[in-house]
Amino acid sequence: MREKNSKSDGIDRYHNLEPTTDAGKKLSAIYDEWAESYDDDNDNKLKTVSQPNTVAMLQRHCTNLNSHILDVGCGTGIVGKHLAVAGFTNYDGTDPSTKMLKHAENHGYTQLFPLDIGQALAAEDNTYDVTLCVGVFTHGHVGPEGIDELIRVTKPGGTICFTVNEGVWDASGFPDAIETLTSSNTWILLEKSKQEYMVNEGVQAWYIAARKC
Ligand SMILES: C[S@@+](CC[C@H](N)C(=O)[O-])C[C@H]1O[C@@H](n2cnc3c(N)ncnc32)[C@H](O)[C@@H]1O
Repeated sequence: MREKNSKSDGIDRYHNLEPTTDAGKKLSAIYDEWAESYDDDNDNKLKTVSQPNTVAMLQRHCTNLNSHILDVGCGTGIVGKHLAVAGFTNYDGTDPSTKMLKHAENHGYTQLFPLDIGQALAAEDNTYDVTLCVGVFTHGHVGPEGIDELIRVTKPGGTICFTVNEGVWDASGFPDAIETLTSSNTWILLEKSKQEYMVNEGVQAWYIAARKC
């Protein structure tokens, strides 16, 4: 496991996040500061594999490469990079951190637009064939209530894929939320699997894929 430098590592700010009422503002500031070194930390320090794993999960449930995709919490656009490699051609991204979004400009997104934390996504109901959300359901970020917005902007019959850090899975009530969405026929659960997430940290995530009813 890598050695940490608590003065300079964005990762340590992230680890110390606790859900608070002003978490939104704090988060945006943290990610604005982290934007420059985020990809290096992702690839070389954390060895995060959530982005390729989520795109691989999407490929298992959606074969239309022209699908109109929204990447919620797209950050620097690592998911977009993997979508392009997989052959997807039409993906938008949204994120609260303008500095993270700036980096995402390099990764083939059709449109990038800001996300106001605590507000609805800036997209109409039933807009997207696919909605992805990777690395956002995690400590101090977004709880299961955020799933409703992913569903809202997805077309009926569309695919929703997201990750949930194992550390918030039970504590934040994700199993109940997912079960309620399934039993109410809001979506059909396609996949629920536990896989590697941040390999160097020994952290796994739940990977969820569902079809909106
Ligand atoms: C761990 S990063 C993941 C970024 C990207 N999806 C990836 O996999 O590399 C979490 C991202 O969530 C964004 N974020 C923070 N609060 C959010 C919210 N309420 N809704 C959506 N995204 C949020 C952050 O700005 C950051 O870019």
